[in-house]
Amino acid sequence: MTSAIVATGISKSFGDVEALKALELDIPEGAFFVLLGPSGAGKTTTLRVIAGLETPDTGTVHLTGIDATKATPAERDLAMVFQSYALYPKQTAAENIASPLRARKLPKSEIDAQLKRVSELLHIEELLNRYPTQMSGGQMQRVALGRALVRDPRAFLMDEPLTNLDLKLRVEMRTELTRIHRSLGRTFLYVTNDQVEAMSMADQVAVLREGTVQQVGSATEIYDHPANRWVATFVGSPRMNLLKCTANGRLEGDGWTLPNPGFGIQGERPALFGVRSEDLSLDVREESASLAGKVYAVEPLGDRTLVDVEIGDQRVIIKAAPTASFKIGEEVRASVDLDRVHLFDADTESAIARA
Ligand SMILES: Nc1ncnc2c1ncn2[C@@H]1O[C@H](COP(=O)(O)OP(=O)(O)O)[C@@H](O)[C@H]1O
Ligand SMILES: [Mg+2]
Repeated sequence: MTSAIVATGISKSFGDVEALKALELDIPEGAFFVLLGPSGAGKTTTLRVIAGLETPDTGTVHLTGIDATKATPAERDLAMVFQSYALYPKQTAAENIASPLRARKLPKSEIDAQLKRVSELLHIEELLNRYPTQMSGGQMQRVALGRALVRDPRAFLMDEPLTNLDLKLRVEMRTELTRIHRSLGRTFLYVTNDQVEAMSMADQVAVLREGTVQQVGSATEIYDHPANRWVATFVGSPRMNLLKCTANGRLEGDGWTLPNPGFGIQGERPALFGVRSEDLSLDVREESASLAGKVYAVEPLGDRTLVDVEIGDQRVIIKAAPTASFKIGEEVRASVDLDRVHLFDADTESAIARA
């Protein structure tokens, strides 16, 4: 399959700050590709390097197979949507959206047709005559999206475009964006620090930490098979439970023992046992694979209850049914879905594969 965007060995420093460290990305043509990472990870810098707004210290950018490292932003033909809307304050929504088309001196009939198409797509027909000061944040963001979508660029680069919207609109826009992506069939490179956003929209996710890609895969691959401890705890809410243990034929921690469900271990070594809150169950069943503990706290959330359980000197969070009732201090057993547990090397923090 052709790649729309390939970044190879990209490094970029600002003074002492190494924003990107030998970054590698390979984005397939037509993908909804999400770059996910916490604030400061280097997401915006990555987009700016790809767009040609920032020159990397080392590395190359290829666009549909052609070396574009030295190309100007205009030559790259990418549309960028920023987190700040960057609308022209003295222009109406319609004028803002049409500005890339006017710059290319398209005939008025063509501009009007494009404007109609995009405003229908984004449901902003009724906003077209308003000025930025007369619009809410969400409306301005949709107009900014419109200005990007009115063109037919090689790819769309979006930098946290939904961050400033309220929750309801954000959820709506997620659905809209995936729908727009499908209808346009263009490559989207979408940056976010919100893992729910990444999980819900992406064909592929690259997880970025401190200027380095930690893992690339589908949302499910990353959730089910995180490559290391950091990815495991960054993706998923509540975060993955981790318990210190010694691993060999069995996994032994403080006050608990589980059979080793096939992790390839040579000799005995210190490790971190990982299990997500939904892969632990407080339904009382006679099972060998279980952890004994004491209820520390109970948090009813409406659709589920989170039960915080002390196991030895550590704690785990267990997702239970909304109707579950547990008393603080109560002794409980949590059965473990051994097919879905993880083991990380105590030193490298990399996931240990099953043999
Ligand atoms: N123009 C700049 N000057 C100095 N430092 C910068 C500049 N741009 C980014 N940085 C630094 O580079 C790192 C990555 O920034 P950025 O790419 O904006 O991260 P993200 O978008 O993931 O939050 C941060 O430590 C940030 O402070
Ligand atoms: Mg940023």
